[in-house]
Amino acid sequence: MRVLTRAAQLGGGGVLVPTMGALHEGHLSLIRLARTAAPGPVVVSVFVNPTQFNERADFERYPRDLDRDVALAGSAGADVIFAPQVDEVYPPGIQVPVPALPNVATRPGLEDAGRPGHFAGVCQVVLRLFDLCQPTHAVFGEKDWQQLQVVRALVAAQARDVTIVPHPIVREPDGLAMSSRNVLLNPEARRTALVLRQALIEAARVETPKAGEAIMRQVLDRPGIEIQYAVIRDAETLETWSPARPGRALVCARVGDVRLLDNHAWPERDPGH
Ligand code: PAJ
Repeated sequence: MRVLTRAAQLGGGGVLVPTMGALHEGHLSLIRLARTAAPGPVVVSVFVNPTQFNERADFERYPRDLDRDVALAGSAGADVIFAPQVDEVYPPGIQVPVPALPNVATRPGLEDAGRPGHFAGVCQVVLRLFDLCQPTHAVFGEKDWQQLQVVRALVAAQARDVTIVPHPIVREPDGLAMSSRNVLLNPEARRTALVLRQALIEAARVETPKAGEAIMRQVLDRPGIEIQYAVIRDAETLETWSPARPGRALVCARVGDVRLLDNHAWPERDPGH
């Protein structure tokens, strides 16, 4: 496996797995899927993108451990780690464009409202990484459902020749969606965090978004939880759901002082599973 910091050293082609490092089992599962998604090398980018953080302090305290990430990505089957410095991605004196944002990045009032400017930074860096790495395919996790829809819409709007490959949410054995933020939960908050998934599962069993949203609020109404949103929306546009369209239940809550996200198909496709 090679660790590269310069885009000029990359050969182009292959499957890109964009990450900000601090890899966990969720990321590793994306890398394993990348191996099977298409021929060509699996390139894992590790870049903590400053333009998608709302707060400088949050960017600065983001965990960074490249040696560990390299070892883990290698064990999961990566061929190349692309770990550029900031001035490789954003060269001084060159304006890396922020593309026109698709509606799903600005209208739903979910992550777009909770983290102003976040999707502008994500769209900017994703297109920049595509330009630098020239992949045929790129893998994104369903854990960040709105981000996945934003990237899909962006690639379509820009007519980019990259196939976006989604990966289902990877969970801890007790159901909590894996996240680099989970280590910040104290033992009590870690137990409380399980209700996010419970809320989504209970909502999936009811017939209308209104009833589903009411159930989610009920389940999440606990000490130590501050709901940011708990909604049922069109799975693709993340706007109001209409019958016969795929739906998605999405939740974001602060548990202790950790902001957690989760989502689930709505309604349940097959109640037996
Ligand atoms: P990061 O948070 O490092 O996540 C990298 C990829 O891993 C994303 O596609 C994310 O959805 C996926 N992922 C994280 N946890 C997951 C889980 N439990 N199950 C499935 N997939 C999971 O998302 C970003 O980085 C950045 O915004 C990025 C796209 C790299 C742009 O900077």
